[in-house]
Amino acid sequence: MATVVESHFPFLPAFLFPDLLLLLLLPILSFLLLSLFLILLRNRRPSVQLPPGPKPWPILGNILHVGSMPHVTFARLSQAHGPLISLRLGTQLIVVGSSPDAASEILKTHDHELSGRSVPHVSFARDPELNRDSIAWSTHCTDHWRSLRSMVRAELFTSKAVDQQSGIRERQAREMARFLDRRRGEELLAAVSDTTSSSMEWALAELLKNPETMTAARREFDDKFPKCHVIKESDLAYLPYLCACVKETLRLHPPAPLLLPRRAATDCHVMGYTVPKAAHVFVNVWAIGRDPRYWEDALSFKPERFLVGGSERDVDYKGSHFEFLPFGSGRRICSGLPMAVRKVQLAVATLVHGFDWSLPAGMAAEELEMDERYGVTLMKLNPLVVIPTPRV
Ligand code: HEM
Repeated sequence: MATVVESHFPFLPAFLFPDLLLLLLLPILSFLLLSLFLILLRNRRPSVQLPPGPKPWPILGNILHVGSMPHVTFARLSQAHGPLISLRLGTQLIVVGSSPDAASEILKTHDHELSGRSVPHVSFARDPELNRDSIAWSTHCTDHWRSLRSMVRAELFTSKAVDQQSGIRERQAREMARFLDRRRGEELLAAVSDTTSSSMEWALAELLKNPETMTAARREFDDKFPKCHVIKESDLAYLPYLCACVKETLRLHPPAPLLLPRRAATDCHVMGYTVPKAAHVFVNVWAIGRDPRYWEDALSFKPERFLVGGSERDVDYKGSHFEFLPFGSGRRICSGLPMAVRKVQLAVATLVHGFDWSLPAGMAAEELEMDERYGVTLMKLNPLVVIPTPRV
């Protein structure tokens, strides 16, 4: 028997709401609502306060914010939101530190929790064969990773071993000089992508753009060594200005501007915020190296800041000066550091001592652009074009 129910929808007939149906549905609905509530209650995480950041779009998150130069975007965002920011890229949470304090918290205080590696979606890094024995792409600091690192340190990169390999690097430098000699007067195009070669390219570009630094580096050579001298690694100890030019290059143009991506192994608390487990963590060493709060005349190429009497004379590469981290810091600091520094210094010394360099016809030093391209390493957008003339 249908009861007359007054409908709010005049066109719906009242016989659609019989008593019996209501009586049956009510307990089922109540049961379903209660179950849903209990599931939500059980899955609810204690409220976490993520680092601030730009508002994400539904599903996409902040993908559209990032663009092709993430280190530049993150630097801009950190000016608006603070030294530790978070973004969502689809389902992934990204945390970026952009001050020496943030770097110290990530790479020193929480080095243990944040030293997992997040492996990029590129085939070489995801190949299980390569990945197993890769120090850089080992996702966790496992015993195997630890033993590979210790082996590399003990066998390849002790001071003694690095000294013993100097002959190899000196031969490479001589080969480079011979190659340049054969191409005297020709325009050379430097299109390089590995960390050491791109550092050489940036160093030469900065020395050409700032001719007073090239003159000072030359003067240092000419005071210490005659022109016909073939540069050896042992000479570097007498070339502090040249070595400061390499440091200044790596401050302004770190080949890995965001270091290599790290991953949180557990939830941890950084600068009052929660970095949740599995978040991808970056340190923007490019932004820190150019920040006027930590560097005087931050955007100028001034190697003398690293010399005795300069404001940054004590800063070294070893990862304990958190305003200068081209090789990272903590347990995942670059394992090639002792060799890489020597290689870049020797190569730049050979280029500066052995050749006069000029820019293509009509180009003034100040016109040389320093635009960047973000890729495997931070490269010059337009490869440097230069003309070498042997000095001897
Ligand atoms: C100018 C040259 C170089 C620069 C600026 C550089 C920089 C870096 C940076 C920033 C990292 C990541 C550090 C971190 O996550 O905190 C790294 C890792 C690494 N680098 Fe280098 N690197 C250079 C050259 C080299 C060379 C020549 C080698 C080897 C011969 C090398 C081997 C490695 C390895 C194995 C790792 C991974 C360490 C790990 O995850 O445990 N690097 N490098």
